[in-house]
Amino acid sequence: MSVMPADPHLPVAHLRPPSNWINDPNGLAFHNGHYHVCFQYNPYGPEHAHMHWGHFRSPDLLTWEELPVALTPTPGADDADGCFSGNAVSDGDRLIAFYSAFRTDRWAQPVTTAESRDNGVTWTPRGSLLIPEPPDGATMYRDPYVWREADRWRMLVGSAQANGRAAALLYESADLEEWEYRGPFLARVPQPVAPGADTGLGWECPQYLHANGRGALLIGAWDPELGPRRTVVYPGREQDGRFLAEAPSLLDHGPDFYAPALLPAPDGRWLLWGWSWEARDPEWVRESGWAGLLTLPREVTLAEDGSLRQQPAAELLALRDERAVTATGRTTATAVLGTVSPSFDLTARLEPRAADTTAGLRLVTSADGAEYLDIRIDPDAGELVVDRDHASLDPRAHGGTFRIPCPEATAASGVPVELRLVVDRSVAELYLPSGRTLTLRFYPTGGAPWQIEARTGGTGGLGYSVGAWNLRPYTMRYAASRRHP
Ligand code: FRU
Repeated sequence: MSVMPADPHLPVAHLRPPSNWINDPNGLAFHNGHYHVCFQYNPYGPEHAHMHWGHFRSPDLLTWEELPVALTPTPGADDADGCFSGNAVSDGDRLIAFYSAFRTDRWAQPVTTAESRDNGVTWTPRGSLLIPEPPDGATMYRDPYVWREADRWRMLVGSAQANGRAAALLYESADLEEWEYRGPFLARVPQPVAPGADTGLGWECPQYLHANGRGALLIGAWDPELGPRRTVVYPGREQDGRFLAEAPSLLDHGPDFYAPALLPAPDGRWLLWGWSWEARDPEWVRESGWAGLLTLPREVTLAEDGSLRQQPAAELLALRDERAVTATGRTTATAVLGTVSPSFDLTARLEPRAADTTAGLRLVTSADGAEYLDIRIDPDAGELVVDRDHASLDPRAHGGTFRIPCPEATAASGVPVELRLVVDRSVAELYLPSGRTLTLRFYPTGGAPWQIEARTGGTGGLGYSVGAWNLRPYTMRYAASRRHP
């Protein structure tokens, strides 16, 4: 059953339950014919507290079913105050979750497990910690990531260390039971990696993928002082249990993306989901009764140069409904290209003739044109600028402009700018052919239809070729215990 939610900002093609708080994707695994996607979940309200693992599964990334809550804190136990983040692996008939056991009276979140023998419907916690103590020198410790490599199991745990380094700590096991600590896989003195982004004091949610002799370590940079959190990718290679990292970069250039998690799919693809948090004030979040969503599933590849490339999973093309916009032409001012529903998938090819920092696309979401999200080409910087300063008439929504590198945007490149934009009610995900992404939240107050425009103030005009499809909602079956708003 697919139901259109009444709240105009609740997404229809992004995973989240209809109410309450969610954050990180957790427990991603393909097991016995299903993709399993769990997530940090507070079943009692729209704030970060009482962390459980909510749970969806799907055979095809399009038809989803909400399963009963997978992990629940056990009073008096090591996870009494929360089942924090981690992942899951499929091992024969068992689906095994590895997670961080949270208690307010302990600084570390040691690793524990739970397993399911009925395809994720019910879970049995282990009852004792799997790795009870962090190694000496750790000052922050959480978020196991377990994967199979050759004849052994390996695990990374996020940490900060007393020597000032953030680290991803490596463990190995032959049987998923006995784990041997192998030392830091990578440890770094936190360094700024881009304006406004710092690798932070500690690393959380480490994830690792590897292909053809290369690897990429993804970490969440967490900084109790600075607050803002970003996801950083280190490309590199492994040598004897140590990761030889090259220069890091941002995994996503938007303001509202964090804690991505990987799923090795049975067909060899790496899939990734991230958490996109709210960008509106807490009072509005409380009123709405929900916070956070998971990004689209993304296919992740490692390019020859080591860069990590993301595109929406190919399956999502099947969500495209009727074609809403087909427009090719050239404008010297503003061209109205057509209208879309509040959930749409758009591809564009743009050719500004002159060095014009006003050329780009506008998504107009109010009848009077006062509310809009802009994507502009900055030919001097070789970047696209996503501007949400006017994206909501409600002052409780956050504004800001955000930049994503796009070498084709430079005036001299001679190459058209291509992009794909997936919008789902209050989330926009921008994908470039380079595999770079920018994720942000915005909160239009105007009802559908929304209008797409090509705009330029430059003398040479803007050539455009734009297609857009309205999106069908995921086919979603919520757990029997749940009422949809
Ligand atoms: C990342 C994170 C994890 C932690 C979880 C708690 O967003 O802080 O490090 O396990 O969220 O919800």
